Amino acid sequence: MASGREQFGSNMAAVMAMAGSAIGLGNIWRFPYMVGQGGGAAFVLVYLLCVVFLSVPILLCETIIGRRAQAGTIGAMEKLAPGTGWKWLGILTVISPLIILSFYSVVGGWSIGFFFQSLSRGFCVGDTGNFAAFTSSLWMPLVCNTLFIFATAGVVAAGVKSGIERFNRISLPLLFIFIVTIMVYSLSLEGSSEGVRYLLKPDFSRMSPRVLADAMGQAFFSLSLGVGTILTYSSYMKKEDNIVRSGMGTAMFDLAFAVLAGFAVIPAVFAAGIEPGAGPGLIFETLPFVFASMGEQLPFISRLISIIFFLTVVIAALTSSISMFEVGVAYLVEERHLSRRRAVLYILLGTWALGSLCAVSPAVFDFCDILTSNYLMTFGGLLFVLFVGWKMKRSDVWGEFTGEGGQRGNARIFGFFYFFVRYAAPVVILLIFLSNLL
Ligand code: PHE
Repeated sequence: MASGREQFGSNMAAVMAMAGSAIGLGNIWRFPYMVGQGGGAAFVLVYLLCVVFLSVPILLCETIIGRRAQAGTIGAMEKLAPGTGWKWLGILTVISPLIILSFYSVVGGWSIGFFFQSLSRGFCVGDTGNFAAFTSSLWMPLVCNTLFIFATAGVVAAGVKSGIERFNRISLPLLFIFIVTIMVYSLSLEGSSEGVRYLLKPDFSRMSPRVLADAMGQAFFSLSLGVGTILTYSSYMKKEDNIVRSGMGTAMFDLAFAVLAGFAVIPAVFAAGIEPGAGPGLIFETLPFVFASMGEQLPFISRLISIIFFLTVVIAALTSSISMFEVGVAYLVEERHLSRRRAVLYILLGTWALGSLCAVSPAVFDFCDILTSNYLMTFGGLLFVLFVGWKMKRSDVWGEFTGEGGQRGNARIFGFFYFFVRYAAPVVILLIFLSNLL
Protein backbone atom coordinates (compact mmCIF):
# COMPACT_ATOMS: atom_id res chain seq x y z
CA MET A 1 0.00 0.00 0.00
CA ALA A 2 2.87 2.34 0.79
CA SER A 3 4.05 2.27 -2.81
CA GLY A 4 2.51 5.01 -4.92
CA ARG A 5 1.21 6.76 -1.81
CA GLU A 6 1.21 10.53 -2.06
CA GLN A 7 3.60 12.44 0.20
CA PHE A 8 4.12 16.05 1.23
CA GLY A 9 6.88 17.61 -0.83
CA SER A 10 9.08 18.70 2.09
CA ASN A 11 9.38 18.92 5.85
CA MET A 12 8.12 22.51 5.65
CA ALA A 13 5.09 21.43 3.65
CA ALA A 14 4.28 18.83 6.32
CA VAL A 15 4.63 21.43 9.09
CA MET A 16 2.40 23.84 7.19
CA ALA A 17 -0.26 21.18 6.69
CA MET A 18 -0.18 20.19 10.35
CA ALA A 19 -0.16 23.81 11.45
CA GLY A 20 -3.08 24.38 9.08
CA SER A 21 -4.97 21.58 10.80
CA ALA A 22 -4.10 23.01 14.19
CA ILE A 23 -4.86 26.65 13.39
CA GLY A 24 -8.57 27.03 13.13
CA LEU A 25 -11.70 28.05 14.92
CA GLY A 26 -10.02 26.77 18.07
CA ASN A 27 -7.56 29.65 17.88
CA ILE A 28 -9.68 32.47 16.63
CA TRP A 29 -13.12 31.61 18.00
CA ARG A 30 -12.59 29.44 21.07
CA PHE A 31 -9.27 30.72 22.45
CA PRO A 32 -10.23 34.41 22.84
CA TYR A 33 -13.52 33.63 24.58
CA MET A 34 -11.87 31.06 26.83
CA VAL A 35 -9.24 33.64 27.78
CA GLY A 36 -12.10 36.04 28.43
CA GLN A 37 -13.87 33.57 30.68
CA GLY A 38 -10.74 32.19 32.36
CA GLY A 39 -9.24 35.39 33.72
CA GLY A 40 -6.94 36.61 30.94
CA ALA A 41 -3.19 36.11 31.38
CA ALA A 42 -3.52 33.39 34.01
CA PHE A 43 -5.38 31.23 31.52
CA VAL A 44 -2.83 31.99 28.80
CA LEU A 45 0.00 30.93 31.09
CA VAL A 46 -1.60 27.62 32.02
CA TYR A 47 -2.48 27.04 28.40
CA LEU A 48 1.12 27.60 27.38
CA LEU A 49 2.37 25.02 29.85
CA CYS A 50 -0.25 22.52 28.67
CA VAL A 51 0.82 22.93 25.06
CA VAL A 52 4.51 22.44 25.75
CA PHE A 53 4.28 19.61 28.26
CA LEU A 54 1.18 17.79 27.12
CA SER A 55 0.14 18.57 23.57
CA VAL A 56 3.56 18.31 21.96
CA PRO A 57 4.31 14.81 23.31
CA ILE A 58 0.85 13.57 22.28
CA LEU A 59 1.28 15.12 18.87
CA LEU A 60 4.60 13.32 18.54
CA CYS A 61 2.94 10.03 19.46
CA GLU A 62 0.45 10.42 16.64
CA THR A 63 3.26 11.36 14.29
CA ILE A 64 5.30 8.32 15.30
CA ILE A 65 2.39 5.98 14.59
CA GLY A 66 1.40 7.61 11.30
CA ARG A 67 4.82 7.89 9.80
CA ARG A 68 5.91 4.43 10.92
CA ALA A 69 2.82 2.81 9.43
CA GLN A 70 2.59 4.99 6.32
CA ALA A 71 -1.16 4.50 6.52
CA GLY A 72 -4.31 6.19 7.79
CA THR A 73 -5.73 5.43 11.23
CA ILE A 74 -7.30 2.00 10.68
CA GLY A 75 -4.53 0.88 8.33
CA ALA A 76 -1.93 2.00 10.87
CA MET A 77 -3.46 -0.11 13.62
CA GLU A 78 -3.68 -3.10 11.31
CA LYS A 79 -0.06 -2.71 10.31
CA LEU A 80 1.47 -2.06 13.70
CA ALA A 81 -0.82 -4.27 15.82
CA PRO A 82 -2.37 -6.78 13.41
CA GLY A 83 -5.29 -8.85 14.60
CA THR A 84 -5.70 -7.00 17.91
CA GLY A 85 -8.39 -4.88 19.51
CA TRP A 86 -6.33 -1.78 18.66
CA LYS A 87 -8.23 -1.80 15.40
CA TRP A 88 -11.03 -0.14 17.36
CA LEU A 89 -8.78 2.82 18.02
CA GLY A 90 -8.43 3.11 14.26
CA ILE A 91 -12.18 2.93 13.78
CA LEU A 92 -12.84 5.44 16.56
CA THR A 93 -10.41 7.91 15.06
CA VAL A 94 -11.98 7.70 11.62
CA ILE A 95 -15.38 8.46 13.09
CA SER A 96 -14.47 11.23 15.58
CA PRO A 97 -13.06 13.76 13.10
CA LEU A 98 -16.16 13.34 10.97
CA ILE A 99 -18.38 14.11 13.96
CA ILE A 100 -16.22 17.16 14.77
CA LEU A 101 -16.47 18.24 11.15
CA SER A 102 -20.27 18.16 11.35
CA PHE A 103 -20.53 20.92 13.93
CA TYR A 104 -17.30 22.61 12.90
CA SER A 105 -18.66 23.13 9.40
CA VAL A 106 -21.67 24.87 10.91
CA VAL A 107 -19.43 27.43 12.62
CA GLY A 108 -17.42 27.62 9.39
CA GLY A 109 -20.76 28.35 7.73
CA TRP A 110 -21.58 31.14 10.20
CA SER A 111 -18.22 32.67 9.35
CA ILE A 112 -19.05 32.56 5.65
CA GLY A 113 -22.38 34.20 6.42
CA PHE A 114 -20.72 36.96 8.45
CA PHE A 115 -18.07 37.41 5.78
CA PHE A 116 -20.76 38.01 3.18
CA GLN A 117 -22.57 40.38 5.48
CA SER A 118 -19.44 42.44 6.11
CA LEU A 119 -18.86 42.47 2.37
CA SER A 120 -22.37 43.38 1.36
CA ARG A 121 -23.59 45.87 3.97
CA GLY A 122 -21.38 45.73 7.03
CA PHE A 123 -22.61 45.86 10.60
CA CYS A 124 -24.72 48.59 12.18
CA VAL A 125 -25.01 49.45 15.85
CA GLY A 126 -28.74 48.75 15.78
CA ASP A 127 -28.06 45.21 14.55
CA THR A 128 -28.20 43.60 17.99
CA GLY A 129 -29.54 40.10 17.86
CA ASN A 130 -28.03 39.67 14.42
CA PHE A 131 -26.32 36.45 15.37
CA ALA A 132 -29.45 35.04 16.97
CA ALA A 133 -31.43 35.96 13.87
CA PHE A 134 -28.82 34.37 11.64
CA THR A 135 -28.64 31.09 13.53
CA SER A 136 -32.37 30.78 14.04
CA SER A 137 -33.20 31.33 10.39
CA LEU A 138 -33.67 27.97 8.70
CA TRP A 139 -31.99 28.34 5.39
CA MET A 140 -29.03 30.67 6.04
CA PRO A 141 -27.11 28.25 8.29
CA LEU A 142 -27.96 25.41 5.91
CA VAL A 143 -26.75 27.21 2.81
CA CYS A 144 -23.60 28.48 4.51
CA ASN A 145 -22.82 25.06 5.96
CA THR A 146 -23.24 23.59 2.48
CA LEU A 147 -20.86 26.13 0.97
CA PHE A 148 -18.29 25.41 3.64
CA ILE A 149 -18.43 21.64 3.37
CA PHE A 150 -18.30 21.71 -0.43
CA ALA A 151 -15.25 23.98 -0.33
CA THR A 152 -13.59 21.52 2.05
CA ALA A 153 -14.39 18.60 -0.23
CA GLY A 154 -13.08 20.51 -3.23
CA VAL A 155 -9.63 20.94 -1.68
CA VAL A 156 -9.40 17.33 -0.53
CA ALA A 157 -10.55 16.01 -3.91
CA ALA A 158 -7.54 17.68 -5.54
CA GLY A 159 -5.21 15.35 -3.62
CA VAL A 160 -2.58 15.49 -0.89
CA LYS A 161 -0.02 17.48 -2.84
CA SER A 162 -2.03 19.58 -5.25
CA GLY A 163 -4.98 20.04 -2.91
CA ILE A 164 -4.05 19.97 0.77
CA GLU A 165 -0.39 20.96 0.51
CA ARG A 166 -1.01 23.75 -1.98
CA PHE A 167 -4.01 25.16 -0.10
CA ASN A 168 -2.05 25.31 3.15
CA ARG A 169 1.02 26.79 1.51
CA ILE A 170 -1.06 29.74 0.30
CA SER A 171 -3.38 30.03 3.31
CA LEU A 172 -0.96 29.95 6.20
CA PRO A 173 1.06 33.06 5.30
CA LEU A 174 -2.19 34.87 4.44
CA LEU A 175 -3.66 33.98 7.82
CA PHE A 176 -0.67 35.44 9.63
CA ILE A 177 -0.67 38.61 7.54
CA PHE A 178 -4.40 39.08 8.15
CA ILE A 179 -4.33 38.44 11.89
CA VAL A 180 -1.39 40.81 12.37
CA THR A 181 -3.27 43.48 10.37
CA ILE A 182 -6.33 43.06 12.56
CA MET A 183 -4.18 43.13 15.69
CA VAL A 184 -2.55 46.40 14.64
CA TYR A 185 -6.00 47.91 14.05
CA SER A 186 -7.26 46.60 17.34
CA LEU A 187 -4.28 47.92 19.30
CA SER A 188 -4.64 51.32 17.68
CA LEU A 189 -8.15 51.79 19.07
CA GLU A 190 -8.63 54.11 21.97
CA GLY A 191 -9.09 52.17 25.18
CA SER A 192 -7.48 49.00 23.85
CA SER A 193 -4.62 49.17 26.35
CA GLU A 194 -7.00 47.91 29.01
CA GLY A 195 -7.33 44.73 26.92
CA VAL A 196 -3.57 44.41 26.55
CA ARG A 197 -3.19 44.67 30.31
CA TYR A 198 -5.87 42.03 30.71
CA LEU A 199 -3.92 39.68 28.44
CA LEU A 200 -0.59 40.30 30.14
CA LYS A 201 -1.41 40.59 33.83
CA PRO A 202 -2.38 37.26 35.36
CA ASP A 203 -5.32 37.21 37.74
CA PHE A 204 -4.87 33.93 39.60
CA SER A 205 -7.96 34.50 41.71
CA ARG A 206 -9.99 33.39 38.68
CA MET A 207 -8.06 30.08 38.54
CA SER A 208 -10.11 27.03 39.39
CA PRO A 209 -9.99 23.32 38.57
CA ARG A 210 -12.57 24.06 35.87
CA VAL A 211 -10.36 26.69 34.23
CA LEU A 212 -7.43 24.30 34.41
CA ALA A 213 -9.41 21.54 32.74
CA ASP A 214 -10.62 24.05 30.12
CA ALA A 215 -7.03 25.05 29.36
CA MET A 216 -6.02 21.42 28.91
CA GLY A 217 -9.07 20.72 26.77
CA GLN A 218 -8.23 23.73 24.65
CA ALA A 219 -4.64 22.50 24.27
CA PHE A 220 -6.07 19.24 22.92
CA PHE A 221 -8.59 20.82 20.59
CA SER A 222 -6.29 23.46 19.24
CA LEU A 223 -3.60 20.99 18.24
CA SER A 224 -6.14 18.62 16.65
CA LEU A 225 -5.13 15.80 18.98
CA GLY A 226 -6.66 12.42 19.59
CA VAL A 227 -8.75 12.13 16.45
CA GLY A 228 -6.27 10.83 13.88
CA THR A 229 -5.84 13.97 11.79
CA ILE A 230 -2.23 14.46 12.84
CA LEU A 231 -1.65 10.71 12.44
CA THR A 232 -3.01 10.79 8.90
CA TYR A 233 -1.03 13.87 7.88
CA SER A 234 2.11 12.35 9.42
CA SER A 235 1.68 9.29 7.26
CA TYR A 236 2.39 11.59 4.30
CA MET A 237 5.67 12.73 5.83
CA LYS A 238 8.97 11.60 4.38
CA LYS A 239 11.13 9.15 6.32
CA GLU A 240 13.99 11.60 6.57
CA ASP A 241 11.89 14.42 8.07
CA ASN A 242 12.67 15.33 11.66
CA ILE A 243 9.43 14.74 13.55
CA VAL A 244 10.48 16.51 16.72
CA ARG A 245 11.27 19.63 14.77
CA SER A 246 8.02 19.47 12.83
CA GLY A 247 6.01 18.79 15.99
CA MET A 248 7.56 21.79 17.74
CA GLY A 249 7.08 23.89 14.60
CA THR A 250 3.40 22.99 14.45
CA ALA A 251 2.90 23.84 18.12
CA MET A 252 4.78 27.15 17.74
CA PHE A 253 2.69 28.24 14.76
CA ASP A 254 -0.50 27.27 16.55
CA LEU A 255 0.46 29.03 19.74
CA ALA A 256 1.61 32.14 17.91
CA PHE A 257 -1.66 32.32 16.03
CA ALA A 258 -3.75 31.86 19.16
CA VAL A 259 -1.87 34.63 20.95
CA LEU A 260 -2.14 36.96 17.95
CA ALA A 261 -5.86 36.20 17.75
CA GLY A 262 -6.16 37.00 21.44
CA PHE A 263 -4.46 40.37 20.89
CA ALA A 264 -6.62 40.98 17.83
CA VAL A 265 -9.94 40.30 19.54
CA ILE A 266 -9.70 41.16 23.25
CA PRO A 267 -8.29 44.74 23.02
CA ALA A 268 -10.97 45.62 20.44
CA VAL A 269 -13.63 44.30 22.77
CA PHE A 270 -12.25 46.42 25.62
CA ALA A 271 -12.03 49.46 23.35
CA ALA A 272 -15.76 49.18 22.76
CA GLY A 273 -16.26 49.11 26.52
CA ILE A 274 -17.45 45.51 26.69
CA GLU A 275 -16.39 42.74 29.09
CA PRO A 276 -14.75 39.85 27.23
CA GLY A 277 -16.64 37.11 29.06
CA ALA A 278 -19.36 36.71 26.44
CA GLY A 279 -18.55 33.07 25.79
CA PRO A 280 -19.02 31.40 22.39
CA GLY A 281 -20.77 34.47 20.97
CA LEU A 282 -17.66 36.63 21.43
CA ILE A 283 -16.64 36.86 17.78
CA PHE A 284 -20.11 36.59 16.29
CA GLU A 285 -22.02 38.87 18.66
CA THR A 286 -19.55 41.14 20.40
CA LEU A 287 -17.17 41.76 17.51
CA PRO A 288 -19.80 42.84 14.96
CA PHE A 289 -20.93 45.31 17.59
CA VAL A 290 -17.33 46.49 17.97
CA PHE A 291 -16.98 46.91 14.19
CA ALA A 292 -20.26 48.76 14.05
CA SER A 293 -19.47 51.16 16.87
CA MET A 294 -15.95 51.84 15.58
CA GLY A 295 -17.49 52.28 12.15
CA GLU A 296 -19.24 55.42 13.34
CA GLN A 297 -15.85 57.15 13.44
CA LEU A 298 -13.94 55.25 10.76
CA PRO A 299 -16.49 53.59 8.50
CA PHE A 300 -14.12 52.49 5.72
CA ILE A 301 -11.35 51.06 7.91
CA SER A 302 -13.70 49.32 10.26
CA ARG A 303 -15.62 47.77 7.36
CA LEU A 304 -12.40 46.62 5.73
CA ILE A 305 -11.21 45.09 8.99
CA SER A 306 -14.48 43.25 9.50
CA ILE A 307 -14.18 41.79 5.99
CA ILE A 308 -10.60 40.70 6.64
CA PHE A 309 -11.53 39.32 10.04
CA PHE A 310 -14.29 37.02 8.85
CA LEU A 311 -12.25 35.99 5.81
CA THR A 312 -9.49 34.96 8.23
CA VAL A 313 -11.98 32.90 10.23
CA VAL A 314 -13.23 31.16 7.07
CA ILE A 315 -9.73 30.30 5.82
CA ALA A 316 -8.53 29.16 9.25
CA ALA A 317 -11.58 26.92 9.56
CA LEU A 318 -10.99 25.46 6.10
CA THR A 319 -7.36 24.53 6.75
CA SER A 320 -8.64 22.51 9.72
CA SER A 321 -11.73 21.01 8.14
CA ILE A 322 -9.74 19.58 5.25
CA SER A 323 -7.61 17.66 7.74
CA MET A 324 -10.69 16.10 9.35
CA PHE A 325 -12.16 15.27 5.96
CA GLU A 326 -8.91 13.66 4.80
CA VAL A 327 -8.98 11.07 7.60
CA GLY A 328 -12.12 9.44 6.22
CA VAL A 329 -10.95 9.77 2.63
CA ALA A 330 -7.60 8.13 3.44
CA TYR A 331 -9.48 5.21 4.96
CA LEU A 332 -11.80 4.71 1.98
CA VAL A 333 -8.96 5.02 -0.54
CA GLU A 334 -6.44 2.82 1.25
CA GLU A 335 -8.56 0.24 2.97
CA ARG A 336 -11.66 0.15 0.76
CA HIS A 337 -9.76 0.80 -2.48
CA LEU A 338 -12.12 3.49 -3.72
CA SER A 339 -10.95 6.19 -6.07
CA ARG A 340 -10.23 9.51 -4.31
CA ARG A 341 -13.17 11.15 -6.07
CA ARG A 342 -15.63 8.53 -4.97
CA ALA A 343 -14.24 8.56 -1.43
CA VAL A 344 -14.63 12.34 -1.29
CA LEU A 345 -18.20 12.01 -2.52
CA TYR A 346 -19.14 9.52 0.21
CA ILE A 347 -17.57 11.53 3.01
CA LEU A 348 -19.15 14.67 1.61
CA LEU A 349 -22.62 13.15 1.65
CA GLY A 350 -22.18 11.83 5.21
CA THR A 351 -20.77 14.99 6.74
CA TRP A 352 -23.16 17.19 4.80
CA ALA A 353 -26.14 15.27 6.17
CA LEU A 354 -24.92 15.33 9.77
CA GLY A 355 -23.72 18.92 9.38
CA SER A 356 -27.14 19.99 8.12
CA LEU A 357 -28.69 18.42 11.19
CA CYS A 358 -26.26 20.35 13.39
CA ALA A 359 -27.04 23.53 11.46
CA VAL A 360 -30.74 23.38 12.23
CA SER A 361 -30.69 21.72 15.64
CA PRO A 362 -28.73 23.28 18.51
CA ALA A 363 -29.27 20.07 20.48
CA VAL A 364 -27.50 17.94 17.86
CA PHE A 365 -24.81 20.62 17.54
CA ASP A 366 -24.13 20.60 21.29
CA PHE A 367 -24.22 16.82 21.44
CA CYS A 368 -21.56 16.48 18.72
CA ASP A 369 -19.46 19.25 20.27
CA ILE A 370 -19.52 17.86 23.81
CA LEU A 371 -19.12 14.24 22.73
CA THR A 372 -15.97 14.99 20.74
CA SER A 373 -14.36 17.90 22.62
CA ASN A 374 -14.91 16.48 26.11
CA TYR A 375 -14.69 12.74 25.55
CA LEU A 376 -13.57 11.37 22.20
CA MET A 377 -10.52 13.61 21.77
CA THR A 378 -9.09 12.93 25.21
CA PHE A 379 -9.98 9.25 24.99
CA GLY A 380 -8.31 8.94 21.57
CA GLY A 381 -5.27 10.85 22.86
CA LEU A 382 -5.00 8.54 25.84
CA LEU A 383 -5.08 5.47 23.61
CA PHE A 384 -2.49 6.94 21.24
CA VAL A 385 0.01 7.53 24.03
CA LEU A 386 -0.66 4.09 25.48
CA PHE A 387 -0.12 2.59 22.04
CA VAL A 388 3.26 4.28 21.62
CA GLY A 389 4.32 3.76 25.22
CA TRP A 390 3.22 0.18 25.73
CA LYS A 391 2.30 -1.48 22.46
CA MET A 392 4.86 -0.35 19.88
CA LYS A 393 8.36 -1.74 20.08
CA ARG A 394 10.70 0.65 21.86
CA SER A 395 13.15 0.34 18.99
CA ASP A 396 10.48 1.44 16.49
CA VAL A 397 9.55 4.44 18.60
CA TRP A 398 13.23 5.29 18.96
CA GLY A 399 13.75 4.89 15.21
CA GLU A 400 10.99 7.36 14.37
CA PHE A 401 11.93 9.82 17.09
CA THR A 402 15.61 9.96 16.23
CA GLY A 403 15.55 9.33 12.47
CA GLU A 404 17.03 5.86 13.13
CA GLY A 405 19.65 7.41 15.38
CA GLY A 406 20.84 10.04 12.92
CA GLN A 407 19.20 12.99 14.67
CA ARG A 408 21.51 13.42 17.63
CA GLY A 409 19.58 16.14 19.45
CA ASN A 410 16.44 14.00 19.42
CA ALA A 411 18.36 10.96 20.61
CA ARG A 412 19.47 12.94 23.63
CA ILE A 413 15.92 13.72 24.79
CA PHE A 414 14.42 10.37 23.83
CA GLY A 415 14.67 8.87 27.32
CA PHE A 416 12.74 11.74 28.81
CA PHE A 417 10.12 11.60 26.08
CA TYR A 418 9.66 7.85 26.41
CA PHE A 419 9.29 8.00 30.17
CA PHE A 420 6.78 10.82 29.85
CA VAL A 421 4.72 8.95 27.28
CA ARG A 422 4.68 5.72 29.29
CA TYR A 423 3.89 7.11 32.71
CA ALA A 424 3.13 10.80 33.06
CA ALA A 425 1.04 11.51 29.95
CA PRO A 426 -1.50 8.70 30.48
CA VAL A 427 -2.10 9.80 34.06
CA VAL A 428 -2.58 13.45 33.12
CA ILE A 429 -4.87 12.64 30.20
CA LEU A 430 -6.87 10.24 32.32
CA LEU A 431 -7.34 13.00 34.88
CA ILE A 432 -8.63 15.41 32.24
CA PHE A 433 -10.92 12.70 30.91
CA LEU A 434 -12.32 11.97 34.35
CA SER A 435 -12.72 15.62 35.20
CA ASN A 436 -14.76 16.06 32.02
CA LEU A 437 -16.82 13.01 32.89
CA LEU A 438 -17.62 14.38 36.32
N1 PHE B 1 -7.36 22.29 15.76
C1 PHE B 1 -8.52 22.77 15.10
C2 PHE B 1 -8.81 24.18 15.58
O1 PHE B 1 -8.11 24.71 16.39
C3 PHE B 1 -9.70 21.87 15.31
C4 PHE B 1 -9.47 20.44 14.96
C5 PHE B 1 -9.81 19.48 15.87
C6 PHE B 1 -8.96 20.08 13.71
C7 PHE B 1 -9.59 18.14 15.56
C8 PHE B 1 -8.76 18.75 13.40
C9 PHE B 1 -9.08 17.78 14.35
O2 PHE B 1 -9.74 24.78 15.18
